Amino acid sequence: MGSLSNFERDLDVFGSEYVQDAPGVWKNLREESPVVHTSLNGGGWLPTTYQDISAVAYDTERFSSRDIGVAATPEGVSLLVAPPITSDPPFHTDARRMLLPYFSPRAVEDMKEVTRTIALDLLDKIDPSDTVDAAEEYARYIPVRVIGAMIGLPEEDSEMFTRWATDILQSHPDDEWERLTTATKEILEYFSKTIADRRSNPRDDLISKLQAETMPNGDPLTDKHVLGTCFLLLVAGIDTTWSSIASNLLHLATNAEDRQRLVDNPDLIPTAIEEFLRAYSPVTMARVASEDTEISGCPVMAGDKVFLPFGASNRDPEMFDRPDEVVIDRQENRHFAFGIGIHRCLGSNLARMELVVAMEEWLKRFPNFSLADESEVQWGGTQVRGPRSVPVRID
Ligand code: HEM
Repeated sequence: MGSLSNFERDLDVFGSEYVQDAPGVWKNLREESPVVHTSLNGGGWLPTTYQDISAVAYDTERFSSRDIGVAATPEGVSLLVAPPITSDPPFHTDARRMLLPYFSPRAVEDMKEVTRTIALDLLDKIDPSDTVDAAEEYARYIPVRVIGAMIGLPEEDSEMFTRWATDILQSHPDDEWERLTTATKEILEYFSKTIADRRSNPRDDLISKLQAETMPNGDPLTDKHVLGTCFLLLVAGIDTTWSSIASNLLHLATNAEDRQRLVDNPDLIPTAIEEFLRAYSPVTMARVASEDTEISGCPVMAGDKVFLPFGASNRDPEMFDRPDEVVIDRQENRHFAFGIGIHRCLGSNLARMELVVAMEEWLKRFPNFSLADESEVQWGGTQVRGPRSVPVRID
């Protein structure tokens, strides 16, 4: 086992170098050492190969999900409980199982037309004679409205949900912790009220359905459980999918040949979406070591954070041929954008449907578009990374 100093790097995962070009940073790190440690921002281990990332993700005994935030939680602040993502086995199994039917392919199919209507409504509002920010004016609103409709929340609250999701997942720990804690408090208060309301006035929505669920021992779900799950669904569903839609449109705005291929052959869109998910994977999660252990010979102490940049597994040359190239008709593509192991994304069917519909409708309405100003493209976020602004010119 090597000493800690061999793995120490001056790496700021919230810094602009990392956020603007995480795949480039992973590539350099992977070539130097498959796992490194940074002491900045509370500290943590960063593996960059599929082998190490998956070893941690699968090992739920040694690596707990009780704190999945990339940003360190300050002392005195209690960790959020949001089943199933913050749960370990055996509780995780039951908390996850009861949610599965709501995100099955059939349930998602039922949301397809709603999603299409949302996309068309947003496209109607776009003025193509001016520069259009595809991230701000389009991508950002689709997932929030879809998940809001599923949970049973009023559409007029969607702007507020977007702000909360952004504050929670995109805050920089140094100067914006307050933004994160305020958003968390507000969102929990919002759901406490909604949950109390549904207890007396049940509706045909996900909140009421969860309230009617029971754990395997017959106990009803506690309000705390329902609250944490609603919080998770709202936060997990918004920023992730929005980031993906935005990076997909950015790719097409800068790759005319790929754009034209998808316009000419829309049947290729689902395959291209998988490749975009692989190449522009937005999500990095974290785990906490439950005991002193090691990752590929690196000494990890109980309580240490380990980051899981799933996008780095997707660019590992051991796993993918030409990993840094975006090949929109890539045939073999078992990517890890939705995670690895027991916490693998529960909303992946929903996300895929949203990504396909968003792309289909955009390309039907605006088949010809290109990036208006490269300098305006800013990638944001570490836990959920994506281009926050994609200014395009529509021809
Ligand atoms: C492109 C969009 C999305 C991406 C890339 C993504 C990615 C991920 C990843 C990497 C995980 C694993 C977390 C871990 O290992 O700790 C995860 C879990 C999860 N995701 Fe997604 N997600 C997306 C969209 C969604 C949507 C739309 C929903 C639905 C509301 C959702 C709900 C969840 C839930 C509930 C979990 C926790 C599952 C568990 O702990 O068993 N996600 N997601």
